[in-house]
Amino acid sequence: MYSKDAVNTYLTETKQWMDASVTSQNLSALRNLLRFHEHRYYVENNPLISDYEYDMLYKKLEAYEKAHPDCIVPDSPTQRVGPALIKDFPKTAHLVPMLSLENSYTAEDLLDWDRKAREAAGLDEITYTVEPKFDGASISLFYENDLLVRGVTRGDGVVGDDITPNIRQIRSIPLSAPFSKYGIHQIEIRGEVLMNKSHFKTYNETLMEEGQPPLANPRNAAAGTLRMKDPTVVRKRNLEGFLYHISYVAYDPNGQELKTHEASLNLLWDLGFRSPKKEMNCLRGIAAVITEVQSFENKRDSLDYEIDGMVIKVNALDIQEKLGMTSHHPRWAIAYKFKARQATSRLLSVEFQVGRTGAVTPVAKIEPVAVGGVTISSISIHNQDYIQEKNLLLGDQILIERSGDVIPQIVKSIPEVRTGNEEPIRFPENCPVCHHPLHKTAGEAVWRCVNNHCQAQRLERLLHFVSKDAMDIRYLGEANLQRFFEKGLLSDIPGIYSIEFSMIETMEGFGTKSITNLREAIEKSKTQPLHRLIYALGIRYVGETTAKALAQQITSIYDLEAMNEERLMQIEDVGTKVAKSIVDYFHNPINQQTIRALEKQGVCVRAAERKNTDGALTGQTYLFTGTLTKMKRSEAEALVESRGGKILGGVSSKLQFLVVGEDAGSKVEKAKKIPGIKLLTEDEFLNKLSN
Ligand code: IVH
Repeated sequence: MYSKDAVNTYLTETKQWMDASVTSQNLSALRNLLRFHEHRYYVENNPLISDYEYDMLYKKLEAYEKAHPDCIVPDSPTQRVGPALIKDFPKTAHLVPMLSLENSYTAEDLLDWDRKAREAAGLDEITYTVEPKFDGASISLFYENDLLVRGVTRGDGVVGDDITPNIRQIRSIPLSAPFSKYGIHQIEIRGEVLMNKSHFKTYNETLMEEGQPPLANPRNAAAGTLRMKDPTVVRKRNLEGFLYHISYVAYDPNGQELKTHEASLNLLWDLGFRSPKKEMNCLRGIAAVITEVQSFENKRDSLDYEIDGMVIKVNALDIQEKLGMTSHHPRWAIAYKFKARQATSRLLSVEFQVGRTGAVTPVAKIEPVAVGGVTISSISIHNQDYIQEKNLLLGDQILIERSGDVIPQIVKSIPEVRTGNEEPIRFPENCPVCHHPLHKTAGEAVWRCVNNHCQAQRLERLLHFVSKDAMDIRYLGEANLQRFFEKGLLSDIPGIYSIEFSMIETMEGFGTKSITNLREAIEKSKTQPLHRLIYALGIRYVGETTAKALAQQITSIYDLEAMNEERLMQIEDVGTKVAKSIVDYFHNPINQQTIRALEKQGVCVRAAERKNTDGALTGQTYLFTGTLTKMKRSEAEALVESRGGKILGGVSSKLQFLVVGEDAGSKVEKAKKIPGIKLLTEDEFLNKLSN
């Protein structure tokens, strides 16, 4: 979409903007520059500048618009953030009904479909396009006079919900596009909103860290996010939009009519949309199509988004018109579905497992079924609320899904086929292992065994500590650990480092080699990075992501012990619940003893020594205000970043140091009102750097 020259010009402009100020004359140039970088990042997946540089440009625009609200235009890059909560989603009719697609599963199905299409079109051979079938939530977008007017969900295909404020948060969907250059004044475009696999993984981790059940697949995550009432939350979820079909277009007299589907995808791409132009192949005849769809299935797992098949379309739009449609689907397109990742099974019984935090999790035993090449016979059903929400009864037919590397989930029960012999799932009142009465905190869905000495919890804490993502102690896997635990050779975490190898030697199946391996693995784990140790301790709500964020802020585990809730909440992604849980953990004398015992056994409880000055400011946050006299602000900011520090966009409780230059403004007053922010002069800042 951008020529090489344009890219070069934008890059030069980017550099100039770092030190320039916004005026009414250069305002639209700045907006275009931001749109260019958004396009590189969100559509082309190929950013040219750092997030930091982008943020700097964005903030300049934001500040100018704040001071000159009259200058704001609806397609300004700042206008994606919805100002208010959405009350309801108005019902809106699509200009053209959103039909479904016919499905095919085999080469024969495709041969059959091609034969019918050729007969109806009166052709010997048809040219087809083949593109991914995106597995997300379908939407339709309406642009008028180059501006995005509406974004609507599929709904029943005729009427959907107007979710425009949420669609505006998806940064690969342009708020405006120069359709008029192509003689188009109205256009309706179809596409799919997705959450990519990596964002989905993080999102599910956050849900689980908060004690909520994870979602079965990225499609549910995308669909659920699109219906959120708070557009700012939608923004944070990082959805993406692929646009693959023009359903309606009104041309001006000078408009050049599109002739092929391929041309439509090219046009959308050139206008700045993420169309599957690069993923699409244009092929003559069905034989080539069959080879393409079969070979694409092997690539499925290497993509960062979920697809559930391929869509084959007749390329020429006049032939599409000739073939027409049924009331359900167009005759000019067909979906070729990949191997299913869903299967039906039956819920046979439920077992209750006690986790390391005492949480009692119901696990469903199901009729074994193969999904995506793996046989599944048990599946977590999380908690009582989940059981109710999914309407699960013992004996129910259920639909399960194993999507990519996500743990299998129950999608739903199928109550329509109940026989009347199904029974409710009864939750125990006592811990199934130590028989202590279970407790449930108000507002939580989880029943817990609060007996800290419960054998099940002790074992689970040990298993978590040695697990792959925690201290990663190989050769101390589940089976071995359980044997040592049952024999009384190992009863708590520090015990791992004082294990009696002479006792193990006498156990069946252990030779010199396996003892050496075990000894070495335990020894090696002593030097695991600090974030792994934090995660391994099993603090409630502290998953891998939070553990990494915490480790960045400290030099030793004892720093965490010293932090109060207020301080902890200054750390990114740490909310009240997590902060309270961390404080509770470190105030518990048993846990304090554990940490001291680990250190005594030689486990590294400190962050690795910094090798050089790079990273000296890691974990620290800075903001500059006023004019610096010894260097440019951009240079000072670069110095902070090169040493691992972070530049924040404004004064907030997350800020640690505000460097105050000459003629500083309101930021200083604001910072003084927030405890914990340290004001530095330029000289103090430079001294800090040289130290
Ligand atoms: S074309 C009029 N192309 O799959 C036909 N649909 O199961 C317009 N889908 O309703 C649809 N990827 O929501 C088309 N590359 C693609 C697609 C695609 C996903 C969705 C679409 C459709 C559903 C049918």
